[in-house]
Amino acid sequence: MKILVVGSGGREHALVWKLAQSAGVDNIFCAPGNAGTALLAENVEIKAGDLAALARFAKENRIDLTVIGPDDSLAVGIVDVFEGERLRVFGPSKTAARLESSKIFAKELMRAKRIPTARAAIFEKQEAAIAFLKESHFPIVIKADGLALGKGVIVAQEFEEARAAVDAMLSEGRFGEAGRRLLIEECLAGSECSLHALVDGKNFLMLASARDHKRAFDGDAGPNTGGMGAFSPANNFGAEAQAQFEGAVMRPLLDGLRESGVIFRGLLFPGLMITGDGPRVLEFNCRFGDPETQAILPRLKSDLVPLLEATIEGHLDHATIEWDKRPAVTVVMASGGYPGKYETAKTISGLERAASEDVQIFHAGTRRKNGQVITSGGRVLAVTALGETVAAARARAYEAVSKIDFENCHYRRDIALSAVGGKIVGH
Ligand SMILES: Nc1ncnc2c1ncn2[C@@H]1O[C@H](COP(=O)(O)OP(=O)(O)O)[C@@H](O)[C@H]1O
Ligand SMILES: [Mg+2]
Repeated sequence: MKILVVGSGGREHALVWKLAQSAGVDNIFCAPGNAGTALLAENVEIKAGDLAALARFAKENRIDLTVIGPDDSLAVGIVDVFEGERLRVFGPSKTAARLESSKIFAKELMRAKRIPTARAAIFEKQEAAIAFLKESHFPIVIKADGLALGKGVIVAQEFEEARAAVDAMLSEGRFGEAGRRLLIEECLAGSECSLHALVDGKNFLMLASARDHKRAFDGDAGPNTGGMGAFSPANNFGAEAQAQFEGAVMRPLLDGLRESGVIFRGLLFPGLMITGDGPRVLEFNCRFGDPETQAILPRLKSDLVPLLEATIEGHLDHATIEWDKRPAVTVVMASGGYPGKYETAKTISGLERAASEDVQIFHAGTRRKNGQVITSGGRVLAVTALGETVAAARARAYEAVSKIDFENCHYRRDIALSAVGGKIVGH
C-alpha cells in the first residue's frame, strides 16, 4: 500500500511515523514534508495548497490513501478534488470542513442542536457591533468568522480593545474575507482541553484526550502561538466529562450535520472549555491538532491505517482502538522570537543523541542542507516522551530537549506542569 501525507509540520511527521509502522504500508510520500519526514518517507516538492498537482501526483503514483494535515487545504476543497479523481482520501469535504472554516456556521449548528457553547451574536455591520459592545460586559471575545492563521480570536479585556478588533475586521478589512463577518461571544472561564474523534458520517470513535499550551512563555504569558507543547491524557477531562461530551456534543452534532445534508468524514477536533457547568465547545477543528497529535499518536497502540479506512468507509461502529496507558508529554522547541520575527537556517545538533525508545523527536520547521539538519520555521521540533507517570514523561522529554541545541532555541519549561501539581508564575 502507498500512502501520501499532505503537509510539512510536526503533526505530519507524527502521522508519517505512525503510518510507517503499519504492516500493510510499503511506501509513504510526504508533500512537501520536512527533514524528519524524509527519514521515513519520500518527500515530494509540492505545496499543501497545490490541489491539482497533489491529485496528479497521487494518480500517477497510484497512491492508495492520502491523509490531509492542514486546515487550509481542507477549506479550499482538497478532498473534493481527490474524490472527483476517484482517489481515496482521509479528511472532510469542503462543505463539511466549514465546521472549522466558518465559526458562524459552527455556531448556528450548535445553536440549532442545543450543543453547549458560549452565547454569541453575529455581526457584519461595524455600527451594530459597536452598539452591542457598548451594552456588553467585559472581558468579551471577538471572533473572525473564517480561518485567520490562529490570529482571528481576540479576548478583549475592555471596550477599546474590543472596538479595535471589530474595526480591524469590519472596517479596515485586515482579516480579508475571513473577517467580513464576526461573532461577539461570551467569555467563558475554565480550563481548555482538546478532543479528537474519528467521524465516518454516522459513527464516531474518540481518541485519547490532550491539552495544548498556546502561549509563548512559561505561566501562559506572552502572545499566542501555534502551540508550544501538549500532553495526553488531559488532566481535566475524566470519564464523567467524556460521557457528558458524547451525549451533549458528538451525538447532536452528527445529527445536525446529517439533517443539513452534510456528511462529515475525517478527524473532528473540538476545542473545549471545561467550566463549572460542564464542557462548552469553543470551536471545531476538522483535522489533527498540532502539537496534540505528537502527544496522542505515540500512545496509540492500534494500527492507524485500518482506523482511517474504517472512517472513510463508514465502518467505525466495528472499529476498536487500544491505547498505551502511559501518559505522553510533548515539548515544542521553537526559533527565538517566534511567534514574531525569527531567524532560520540554524544548524540543529544532538538529534540522534536525544532519541530513544520512549522519546520521539518530531520535526516541524526543519530541512536538510549539506548533510545537516537546519531550522526553517518558527516551531522547529516537537519532542515527545512517554513515561509511567506524567512526571516521568516530563522529565524524560526535558532530558531529551537538553541534548538538542540550535542558536536562539526557545521552549517552555512548564509543559504539563499543571498535571503534576506545579505552577510557574508568569513574567
Ligand atoms: N468564548 C470564549 N471564552 C474564553 N476564551 C475563549 C473563548 N473563545 C475562544 N477563547 C480563547 O481563544 C482561543 C482561540 O479560540 P478558538 O475558538 O480556539 O479559535 P482559533 O483556534 O481558530 O484561534 C481559545 O483557545 C481560548 O483560549
Ligand atoms: Mg483553537
